[in-house]
Amino acid sequence: MAISLHNSTNISRVGFASPFWGSNSASKVSISVSLPSFSNLSFKSVETSSQQLYRISAMSKAESSSSDQVKVDISLSPRVNSVKPSKTVAITDHATALAQAGVPVIRLAAGEPDFDTPAIIAEAGINAIREGYTRYSPNAGTLELRTAICHKLKEENGISYTPDQIVVSNGAKQSILQAVLAVCSPGDEVIIPAPYWVSYPEMARLADATPVILPTLISDNFLLDPELLESNITEKSRLLILCSPSNPTGSVYPKKLLEKIAEIVAKHPRLLVLSDEIYEHIIYAPATHTSFASLPGMWERTLTVNGFSKAFAMTGWRLGYIAGPKNFIAACNKIQSQSTSGASSIAQKAGVAALGLGYAGGEVVSTMVKAFRERRDFLVKSFGELEGVKISEPQGAFYLFIDFSSYYGIEVEGFGKIENSESLCRYLLDKGQVALVPGDAFGDDSCIRISYAASLTTLQASFERIKKALISLRPAVPV
Ligand SMILES: Cc1ncc(COP(=O)(O)O)c(C=O)c1O
Repeated sequence: MAISLHNSTNISRVGFASPFWGSNSASKVSISVSLPSFSNLSFKSVETSSQQLYRISAMSKAESSSSDQVKVDISLSPRVNSVKPSKTVAITDHATALAQAGVPVIRLAAGEPDFDTPAIIAEAGINAIREGYTRYSPNAGTLELRTAICHKLKEENGISYTPDQIVVSNGAKQSILQAVLAVCSPGDEVIIPAPYWVSYPEMARLADATPVILPTLISDNFLLDPELLESNITEKSRLLILCSPSNPTGSVYPKKLLEKIAEIVAKHPRLLVLSDEIYEHIIYAPATHTSFASLPGMWERTLTVNGFSKAFAMTGWRLGYIAGPKNFIAACNKIQSQSTSGASSIAQKAGVAALGLGYAGGEVVSTMVKAFRERRDFLVKSFGELEGVKISEPQGAFYLFIDFSSYYGIEVEGFGKIENSESLCRYLLDKGQVALVPGDAFGDDSCIRISYAASLTTLQASFERIKKALISLRPAVPV
């Protein structure tokens, strides 16, 4: 453990939170620090209980001996040990490292639009700095932004909220985590249809809740079967997480199916719904978006999450929000007040500009959606012509979740056996230099996710590389 004391003589007590040490037993540590003007001194702790404050006493270096050194307990909390790191982040980082080392990798793993933030939004951020909007914002977000969000939810989604029923956060990811922490008690069950966005089960675990994963079928366009839902609801079920349009499948829940789900949910007073609508605007007609909270009887039990990252190409601005009944939203607000506090004041000004673009982001967003659609069409057609793959045509978002499981079990010389989505992704990275995300990260090992947030030219090149890599697996599987 290293502590740096900046030339300060009056520090005599240093506190450590007990979970860090994992037990209540007395522990003893030696702490060495270097101080420019006291270079002949080191500091040694006295023996103490981990729940007490440490007294650090100064002594000469000559007095300290290495025999006093005890090993620092580097164990982590069971909570963090139960959480898996995000595979999408890991693969993106790995592919970035390869690219930086000069390997011409095409990266189709990240979940972010390849477009720059539209100029009008970026300008609003720049102006915010120029005009001095650089201080802390209210914890729940500026009234200006929350009012704009209420207006958007009313006009576009048919759901009415007041600004005190909205909390703006540093991205929708934070909004979701806070909601899960706010409503779930230890042992509660969080129902998550698979394939799911990687973070949902881990967030449930962070709340000491149990994720209950309900599989869906590619032949059902990865949509949840209401009967399966009904048969899995127990008295412990606290939260159902729906994501439409979906990451990773691009599926969009039709209104009729949501109504069936709502009828089932309505029978269970304890069951809440978190509706993740972050890809709402990236949707391909004739598919349409329905907000779950707009369905009869669902407003009272639905937490609607949305954000700016995807539709407005604002991933780096970190801006998302949650809307819901006051009781739950106040709890999210409380959690946020003790962690990050309000989101960036600059990003919030940009968020106001984004919502000012008009219905569904107006032409600025529809231009991006048009490009996504072209890319989807290209990939669906191209992969659809390959043998041994199954596809469900995505109706929204910018992902294609393809079943490549017919390639599993193949032994590749110099590589080994392709056993699952992870080894197939490794193979495609090695052989084709295309970075994709294995489906097991999303709870479906038969598939691989391709993010088509890349130019058509890049996607054409990637398809050729993937096809070539798969063809070289012949004659095992005809392509
Ligand atoms: C389904 C889904 N929800 C929420 C998020 C979080 O978005 P952000 O935190 O950037 O607003 C993402 C980002 O990948 C996502 O795919």
